[in-house]
This record gives sequence, structure tokens and C-alpha cells, in this order.
Amino acid sequence: MEFILKEKGEFALDVQSGLSAPNKYLLSKYFYDHRGDELFQKIMQLPEYYLTRTEFSILHHNYASILAPILEMQHEFNLVELGAGDGFKTKILIEYLESEKAAYTYYPIDISGNVLAHLKQSLRDKFERIQVHPIQDIYRNALAGQLWDHKRRTLLLFLGANIGNFVLEEAKEILKLMAATLGSGDFALIGFDLKKDPELILGAYDDSQGVTRDFNLNILTRINKELGGDFDLSKFKHWPVYNPVNGECRSYLVSLADQEVRVDALAATFHFKRAEAIHTEVSKKYDKEELNQLAEECGFEIIHNFQDDHEFFTDSLWKKR
Ligand code: AVI
Repeated sequence: MEFILKEKGEFALDVQSGLSAPNKYLLSKYFYDHRGDELFQKIMQLPEYYLTRTEFSILHHNYASILAPILEMQHEFNLVELGAGDGFKTKILIEYLESEKAAYTYYPIDISGNVLAHLKQSLRDKFERIQVHPIQDIYRNALAGQLWDHKRRTLLLFLGANIGNFVLEEAKEILKLMAATLGSGDFALIGFDLKKDPELILGAYDDSQGVTRDFNLNILTRINKELGGDFDLSKFKHWPVYNPVNGECRSYLVSLADQEVRVDALAATFHFKRAEAIHTEVSKKYDKEELNQLAEECGFEIIHNFQDDHEFFTDSLWKKR
């Protein structure tokens, strides 16, 4: 098979940059092909992966209080969601809005058209009169476009600790884009995973069944399949590391041998020294002081932190100043 760099586009270019850098890296957004989506669904069910079930229970116990400020305005509003996925958690909020006969339009934003089509259909099946306008795009573009009715109030959802997959400076950039697209008095509900016992955090990214290992290695499988790579997966080790000082859990793939890997689409061969690491993901954990600073610096006021009893996770409700 002939691979042509131009046709492979962004993925090829990003792999080229990442594997040519002095400290090799691959971008975590490339985990999520069909198999990556399936593996992530499995991760969310793992006993060690506390994040999803904790956030689910926070929403389940607090949906009325979370939605009170936007409902009290008694105007039609936009419910916009970044990275909507299967909408599993959002349905808790939607169910309540429907029972209250609230007037709103739901704008789920996701990179995957399949996911959005499925979400729209499942919502329509359950709630006949719901207004859903899916937007297929990446966060930055969706936030920059005027894609919903800006004359209405907006509640912007960014759940699932997705913000954690950006380093602090990038997270600030996204939060500032969110602030720029919102009007004064609009709301954002953002899911942050919190700093806690490092063993619990590390366990969530190094589960006993090896699902997270397969998820991490899947990025190499994707390069093999889509870019004609010849990575031997048995020669790379999944290695997550948690730094309790900055709250970053970083995942790596460490080369177990001195080896050359050919990637046909890039017409390039990459050399890996024994023990050399490829950085693949950051999952940043926050503390309350950081959240206060972040909200302040990005133009928001914190209305309330909705948390679980163990303070593992917060869905933080912010108001645009
Ligand atoms: C999607 N994101 C919030 C997950 C996380 O926890 O950072 C992705 C993930 N990576 C490994 N396990 C889960």
C-alpha cells in the first residue's frame, strides 16, 4: 500500500513532529479511534477508575441545585456541552430539565459524527420534544464560532475531567475561550478531578486488568494501521507516573529495546534508545486554591463546588463575570 503524507493530514504531521522531538511525544487526542472509544468505555467501568462513577453520583445528588441558577432566570437558554460523548451523565440533567418543562436547546459538541448521531437519536427516543443541535468539531473551533443563540443565556458543560487532559497553560487558554464566547452572567459547569492519595490516582491509570495499558498502546496500533508503521507493541511498556506536587498524572510508553521503527506514510524511520520514553497523555488533578486562581484569572466567579463525600472530584459551577 502506498501512503502519501498529504492525504494522511494532521495525524501524520503530528506523529512526525512528536517522534522527531528531543523528548518524544504523541498527542492523547489520537487515542480515540473506534477501538480507543471502546477501550475508554471499558476504563470507565473499571473498579480503579473512580472518576466516572464519582461524577455520576455528584450529578445524581445535585442536579436540582446545579440547574437552579439557570432555571431561576426563567428564559429560554442554551445547554452547550463540550465533548458530549454518549451523554450518559448529561442525561441526568436533561431528565430533570424535561420534568421541569424547561425551555432550552441542547448543543452537544463532539469530534465524532457517529457519537453525535447516536446521542441525538437516543435523546429523541426518550424525550420526544427535546431540541438537539449537534455540532461536530473540536473544542477550539466550536468555541470560536457563533454556533448557538448568543442572545439567550447559556450553561456550558465541560464534564468528565476532560479539562485535565490539557496542561495548565492550555487549560487556561480553553477556559478563556469559554469566557470569551459566554456573556456576562452565563454559567459553566466544569468537572475537575482533585488531588488525593497518589496511590488511588496512579491505580486509576494502571489498572489490574491492563485495559489502560491497551488504551495507551492503541496509539501505536493506530500508527501501524493508518500510517503503515511497524511498531512491535511487545517492545513498549505502559508507564504512568503521578507527581503530587503539580497534580499531573503523565502516561508514557517506554521502549524496552534499542530499536528502529519505520512509518511508511512519513517515509521515515525513528530510532528509540533502550528505556527512551514517548509521552502520551497528561491527566491533571487540581486543588481548591488552583481552582480559585483559575476561575479568577479566566474571568469567572465560582458559584459552588459540587463534590462527593470523599472530595475526590468536583463539578464546579462558575458564572462569567
Ligand atoms: C478522558 N479523560 C478525562 C481520561 C482521563 O482520566 O484523563 C482519559 C483516560 N486516560 C487513561 N484513562 C482514562
